[in-house]
Amino acid sequence: MATGEFYALANEQGAAFGEAHAKSILMGEHSVVYGQPAIALPVTSLRTMAWIDRVEDSPVLFSMDGEVISIDELPNRFASIAAATRAALRKFGLPEQDLLIRLRSGIPPAAGLGGSAAVAHAVIDAVRDLADGALTEAERFELVQEAERVAHGNPSGLDATATRAAGPVYFQRGKFHPLRVGKKMWLVIGDTGVRGSTSIAVARVRGFVDSHRVRGQQLLDDLGDLTDAAVRHLAKGDITRLGQRMNAAQSALDELGVGHETISDLVTAARLAGASGAKLTGAGCGGCVIALADSVDHADLIAHAMMGANAVATWTVEVNPS
Ligand code: MEV
Repeated sequence: MATGEFYALANEQGAAFGEAHAKSILMGEHSVVYGQPAIALPVTSLRTMAWIDRVEDSPVLFSMDGEVISIDELPNRFASIAAATRAALRKFGLPEQDLLIRLRSGIPPAAGLGGSAAVAHAVIDAVRDLADGALTEAERFELVQEAERVAHGNPSGLDATATRAAGPVYFQRGKFHPLRVGKKMWLVIGDTGVRGSTSIAVARVRGFVDSHRVRGQQLLDDLGDLTDAAVRHLAKGDITRLGQRMNAAQSALDELGVGHETISDLVTAARLAGASGAKLTGAGCGGCVIALADSVDHADLIAHAMMGANAVATWTVEVNPS
């Protein structure tokens, strides 16, 4: 059946629906995998949406990027989407057939913004909607983690948590709580355009920690301490000190081996434009950089500087007092 016919079958009105947003890790990526704390923020302007319609005599089909692909033929890079779908269908006792799942995502893939966790959440919630069922937060988390394990081996659960969170969260070993923000601030996200692999980046850190045991452990502990300090600065609205902790975290992440020349370029440009702090966000080895600003005009200036240093896109996130 041609793509157009599937669109004709799909009934937007009656479609089951799910969505989720992107996330940005303020502090603690990689060290969180080793049980250290992390801080993440929702990026609600970037979203992934999933609609599910019933179709007849068909395997489960996905419509994305103008193509219709059956679940058994999804390329490997989409294996976690198939895993999320299968896990959710199993959970609700629905057969793996006669469904068309349409996906639209504004989250750049493999950029450190939680794209894989967000699409898993969206699909799982659409299946829940189709089944007219309910999921506790813990059940959702487990289903997304099942997909995330396919995407990158040993996920900490930070992405699964932050892509559903309504505000900044403190996360450690699967538990999380909302964080206090003392003063409005702005986070500028700059995309290097280099697509990284989370599993490769996580393996690189593992390689460093295994081959430099003392220094590796020291860096992980330092990242944990910097995250805890950042929690206090965030609560007080101390943008200067928060920025200093971000810069120190970037140095540690560079030493752990997940930096990249494009990250360094954007970090340098942001700091020269007066950012209080700048660092990679997410897995690194490319992906995105975040920079802290104390006004929207300052954020614009930093975004402009990042574009001048070859960022392919920037987004500004308001971090509101809470
Ligand atoms: C990826 O967004 C964050 C990492 O810390 C991996 C994880 O937490 O599972 C690099």
